[in-house]
Amino acid sequence: MKDAKKIWIINGPNLDMLGVREPHIYGAETLQDIKARAEKAAKAQGYDIVFVQYNGEGEIVDALHKAYAEAAAVVINAGAYTHYSYAVADAVKMLTCPVIELHLSNIFARENFRRESVISPHATAVLCGAGAYGYELAVAAAAHALQHA
Ligand code: DQA
Repeated sequence: MKDAKKIWIINGPNLDMLGVREPHIYGAETLQDIKARAEKAAKAQGYDIVFVQYNGEGEIVDALHKAYAEAAAVVINAGAYTHYSYAVADAVKMLTCPVIELHLSNIFARENFRRESVISPHATAVLCGAGAYGYELAVAAAAHALQHA
């Protein structure tokens, strides 16, 4: 059932390794640290979060299906699937709620293959390059989209 106060934050592959994974690109904070940031930002706006991470493409699609039924808004950092997964893109396209696409790094300032996102055409807003703080921005953007829908 839809929960008007619930923002789902869905994280994709390799984001479970934040803290040790290329910290010069993704920062020193762990996904747990980032979850705490997102939780605090959501509470400040009167929202709760569901915060999940999956390495598998199908698991992310499943999470998006659940979010379709339950979430007021979705924040998604699909990791590398962003760049080529039409399955994830189709699931995002199906959502009727605000969707914030998020990346820790500036995907436009890196390798060429990262410049394309198959998700962006279906997102309400796209945020990248703000590091862990981006999760706070994404929650604020989701809340804003909900309040100004
Ligand atoms: C990322 C950027 C992607 O290109 C990369 O594959 C990731 C993380 C980011 O948050 O900057 O896994 O989505």
